[in-house]
Amino acid sequence: MGYSTIEVERMGASLGAYVHGVDFSKKLSDEQFQDVHDALVDNSVIFFRDQDLSREGQMEIGHRFGTPEIHPIVAGSNDHPELIEVLKPAGEGASFGTGWHTDNTFFEKPTMITMLYGIETPPVGGDTMWASMEKAYDHLSDGMKEMLADMVVVHSAKVAFDPRTTADKYEGKHSLKYTYSDVVNEEVEHPLIRTHDVSGRKSIFVNPMFSIRIKGMTEKESAPILQYLYDFSTQPEFVCRFRWQDKSIAMWDNRCTQHFAMNDYVEYKRLMRRITIGGDKRPV
Ligand code: SIN
Repeated sequence: MGYSTIEVERMGASLGAYVHGVDFSKKLSDEQFQDVHDALVDNSVIFFRDQDLSREGQMEIGHRFGTPEIHPIVAGSNDHPELIEVLKPAGEGASFGTGWHTDNTFFEKPTMITMLYGIETPPVGGDTMWASMEKAYDHLSDGMKEMLADMVVVHSAKVAFDPRTTADKYEGKHSLKYTYSDVVNEEVEHPLIRTHDVSGRKSIFVNPMFSIRIKGMTEKESAPILQYLYDFSTQPEFVCRFRWQDKSIAMWDNRCTQHFAMNDYVEYKRLMRRITIGGDKRPV
């Protein structure tokens, strides 16, 4: 894809690119916004260094992409409830986003895009990894693609935010504030193979945090198939890994990726600011 206002430097073989020539302290022109949008669709996750991104700037860019979401369980900021300050104080283990997942697939219209800004990042550790669910789909055998083609998967937050097994979250033992919501026990259905609404590319749309079972099967029957797909899609060849610095931005496309926040920097603080942009349609 040709871009007229930015330079795009591919970072991972399967996904990921550094984008140069953007200054998020200023409002992006329509042309540059379109280039950034296209770079995201082309690379699935894009990275920017040395950005001064204000809270208002993050809200503004969020609105350019679509509708910023208010998380039903994790508290946002007072001024902009759509902005979540992801704070991991020094001395605590990381608990937010650790484990492979795609953001909020327990929503009927799952999150489309996430933008994470590094405010205070550790000198070492705290990297984030992304897996290309498109690359993974492309490498399935024809027989497997055929078997999965019409399957539907039930997603829910009932495991990830179960008040019995994650009581520490609701009891305020973490720096993020969690509030129980009935959403936790709801179930939604999404196709197992999804087609990207902009690129038209197909990807595997399951993740171990929120996918519960394949529709029409028990959890036990679904588990081997889902586990195979979790392992297959996160093999190192389909993954890129980003080393954070203060003032870095990562922006990822949840329609075709999973991600994993490392929990390997207990001695350091990490403070990020996150916004998610809602999907405007149900996945197909
Ligand atoms: C997330 O899962 O949205 C957070 C990722 C991170 O903190 O690196």
